[in-house]
Amino acid sequence: MATCAISIVLASVTWINLRDIAVERVLDRVLLASSQFSRQAREILDRPGLPDPSSLQHELEAFTATRSPHHDSSFNQMGRFVYVRIYDTGARRIASLADSTYEPIAAVELRMEASALRVPQPDENLHRVFRLDGMPLISVVAPLTGGKDEVVAYLEGVFAISEAAVAAARRDTLKTVAGVIAIVMVTALVLYPVIINLLGRLARTSRSLLDSHMETLNVLGSAIAKRDSDTDAHNYRVTIMAVNLAEAFGLTAREMRSLIKGAFLHDVGKIGIPDDILHKPGRLDTAEFSVMKTHVTKGLEIIGRSQWLNDAVEVVGGHHEKIDGSGYPDGRSGTDTPVSARIFAIADVFDALTSKRPYKEPFSYEETLSILEKGRGTHFDAELLDLFETIAPDCYAHLANREDSTLKTHLGDIAQKYFMDDMDTILSREDAV
Ligand SMILES: [Fe+2]
Repeated sequence: MATCAISIVLASVTWINLRDIAVERVLDRVLLASSQFSRQAREILDRPGLPDPSSLQHELEAFTATRSPHHDSSFNQMGRFVYVRIYDTGARRIASLADSTYEPIAAVELRMEASALRVPQPDENLHRVFRLDGMPLISVVAPLTGGKDEVVAYLEGVFAISEAAVAAARRDTLKTVAGVIAIVMVTALVLYPVIINLLGRLARTSRSLLDSHMETLNVLGSAIAKRDSDTDAHNYRVTIMAVNLAEAFGLTAREMRSLIKGAFLHDVGKIGIPDDILHKPGRLDTAEFSVMKTHVTKGLEIIGRSQWLNDAVEVVGGHHEKIDGSGYPDGRSGTDTPVSARIFAIADVFDALTSKRPYKEPFSYEETLSILEKGRGTHFDAELLDLFETIAPDCYAHLANREDSTLKTHLGDIAQKYFMDDMDTILSREDAV
């Protein structure tokens, strides 16, 4: 597409430039003819007083006769003057000639009679290009000078470019434009494998870097799971459920990557919570709960040390906020909490309720949904809860309380889809080349 766009732009620029050059070339010849006439008529133009109209008319007829189509010369192959008039410096017409053999001469005369003579400034190139019956004509005004190089009259002529000259110019232009397009295409063909190869190298390096990042994510998630007397399975399940809900909601791929990182690391700050509080079998008292709540800020500190992990901030920082503002650490309410964190909060509680823990048996599907419903509009975003209830049966059937390797496979597919596919597409193109 880029090659086609470049070809179109270059071809258009070339076309316009060549057209201008063709016009300039004709114009040069026309101006040269005007100065030749000026030289030929110098004896008349040099006479003292105003130029003699009848002598000038005679000279004009003699001059145009040598430039008729019957005289073979490169000038005449280019076209011919079909209309000429000469004015004195007071803008009075003193001679004129119209080629009656030129078919649309009446239209030329009509056009020229309708426009008053415009006297060119010194060194001004006064010309106009127009078309009659599809054929181009150039009207030009040129000064006629006497022996002392002073302007004594003006020649205004209309030059009709011949069909042969138009066809030749069109042929040359098309050839050049085709050449330009061919050069762009060949260059693109030569460069394409080089660019794909370079992109492939970049993609392989990025892929390797991304693999390392994903390992870090896995190691950190696993470390906190072990610390929290849990298995990796909770992280896997809650991430998959949050992704399912986010896909139903329609998060962008970039938001999805943030959600996945955040879901995996949501409780990473628990690494910094003392054992006697983290592993306390019973309910935490107020002071202990205050310490427990600091796992959110500790988590933010940990992910803040990695640029790649930093976009997990929304879920890590907002997963204990509640929709009515009664959550922590900031007590944000409604949409002040990012949507990814509101999505994650539903998935996290659903998984906690449907999972077996050392201190509790799993709740049934109905009990779990009933508890979630009690949090509608207070703990959970009502719109997201509605959406979650449409996918909850599937989440419960395929994910609830599962700890087998299929979770890891499923999560691997998600990571591939949101983190790796773009780079693998580049690598596959490189293989194809
Ligand atoms: Fe937490």
